[in-house]
Amino acid sequence: MREYQIAVLKGDGIGPEIVDEAIRVLGKAGEKFGFAMHCHYALLGGCAIDETGMPLPQETIDTCKAADSTLLGAVGGPKWDSVPGDRRPEKGLLGIRGALGLFANLRPAVIFPELRGASPLRPEIIGDGLDVLVVRELTGGIYFGERGRRTVNGAEAAYDTEQYSVPEIERIARVAFQMAQKRRGRVCSVDKANVLESSRLWRATVTRIHDEEFPQVELSHMYVDNCAMQLVRNPGQFDVIVTSNIFGDILSDEASMISGSIGMLASASLSGGKAGLYEPIHGSAPDIAGTGKANPLATILSAAMMLRYSLGEAEAADAIEAAVSRALARGRTADIASKELPVLSCTEMGALVCECL
Ligand code: IPM
Ligand code: MG
Repeated sequence: MREYQIAVLKGDGIGPEIVDEAIRVLGKAGEKFGFAMHCHYALLGGCAIDETGMPLPQETIDTCKAADSTLLGAVGGPKWDSVPGDRRPEKGLLGIRGALGLFANLRPAVIFPELRGASPLRPEIIGDGLDVLVVRELTGGIYFGERGRRTVNGAEAAYDTEQYSVPEIERIARVAFQMAQKRRGRVCSVDKANVLESSRLWRATVTRIHDEEFPQVELSHMYVDNCAMQLVRNPGQFDVIVTSNIFGDILSDEASMISGSIGMLASASLSGGKAGLYEPIHGSAPDIAGTGKANPLATILSAAMMLRYSLGEAEAADAIEAAVSRALARGRTADIASKELPVLSCTEMGALVCECL
């Protein structure tokens, strides 16, 4: 029997509920496809602050480094809003991404055929569907650049810095081109090169990597404001979008909503090695935590991505995705409810996916 060691960071808010369902589905997939998962739980975010005073204890980094892969729920909540910036729950999330060197964040936005009606876009705009992969740079840019406070003309001021080095751009560009080769062969690099110097270096570097290493992939460039508009005007034009940390943060939320609900979108964060960190792109939704209303599907689909990208269990990953598709035809959580189908709780949705597996 194949055995995998998984670090599990449930986090805050709805994190524990959605992760429990994903683990249940992983267990079921293991029974079916002949592997076993061993979970090693560790603290991240607000729950870690409560227990240890820090959002990212060293023990958590060690647990993740020792594991084959990491599954994460979500972090943050109003309880920790008054905590100073460098100790906020979100700092724990950025910290674990940095500590594990997870520079490539893959955020696929797809519309399950069953959910077409849930998309806020008109059917004629969605056309044949939506299948965009946002490749977001995750350990650089303004999230990790120099920041601080200073006095400017006698007034208090604050600054954050967007900086990208050539190697940082090269490696994320390569991931995007490699992904495109396995898909429809098109990359759109998104920047703000009409204004930002970092974007001009980004564009030149992506173009060079394309010309030297991936000439067979079709490369285009787009300004981020135009991209935000094109995503709702004609989302079908995109295959792979590659972009910086902050632009990818924003565009992936937009792309997710097109797919019906932010509660549907999974993500993989990779370092170039086998291990990765897998998490839904949505947050900890403290307002519905504990009510049973959370949609566990993004986390279940993240677990499927983990099987595919980190554990070499592609068949099980396909099966989970197919099971999610079938489950959507039988019942839904409140965020994607349809008049004809029963409204399910988080646990009921997880159970239904297991049944469909
Ligand atoms: C995301 C989230 C995080 C980010 C926050 C919680 C720090 O929005 O994963 O998209 O900005 O990266
Ligand atoms: Mg975000």
